[in-house]
Amino acid sequence: MTTDSVKVLGVPGSLRKGSFNRALLRAAIEIAETEKIPMTFTVAEIGDIPLYDDDLRESDGFPAPVTRFREQIAAADAVLFVSPEYNYSVPGVLKNAIDWASRAPNQPFADKPFAVMGVSGAMSGTMRMQYHLRQIAVFLDMHPLNRPEVFVRNGKTVFDADLVLTDGPTKQAVAKQLSALVAWTRRLSAR
Ligand code: FNR
Repeated sequence: MTTDSVKVLGVPGSLRKGSFNRALLRAAIEIAETEKIPMTFTVAEIGDIPLYDDDLRESDGFPAPVTRFREQIAAADAVLFVSPEYNYSVPGVLKNAIDWASRAPNQPFADKPFAVMGVSGAMSGTMRMQYHLRQIAVFLDMHPLNRPEVFVRNGKTVFDADLVLTDGPTKQAVAKQLSALVAWTRRLSAR
């Protein structure tokens, strides 16, 4: 893995078609390609994961969408969360998906490096969400990329009408974080 492409699972925290965060993840995938950052992406879809119910898990095991998500996490070298902030925290859909995936056996997030970026409608840039996600990742035993952080503000000013990322400084910030995630993943895998 030291020289191969890093396999990244992109996990969007918003389900809506017009999501700025889904658009930011698409932009990250394009930037990795154009900047020749050695990573390949799979994008997780978490919208069909049911609400967490331990009775369901105990009676029938993991629902199929959860098994799919767990397998995607297990197969990835690193995870990239791209999420909005809801009520100063991690959106429920993302937390719900994490809660399902985190159950034993073989908790798939354990020992995975991850990065987080996000775009907000207004000024926050998703800072509070990111710090709550980092706290969650402690229990998951993941390895956060500390820097660079990517806080994208005022979504409507950085994307065009087709949700293409047009803001130069944001593109540069994304490229830097992706490169750092590759280095971080390689460093951890060399242990
Ligand atoms: C928000 N929004 C929001 N923004 C923010 O910066 N801090 C916050 O705490 C919240 N809280 C919040 C709660 C809920 C339930 C919604 C629906 C929205 C606004 C949010 O940044 C904006 O809607 C983004 O555009 C959502 O991301 P996507 O869906 O465009 O990716």
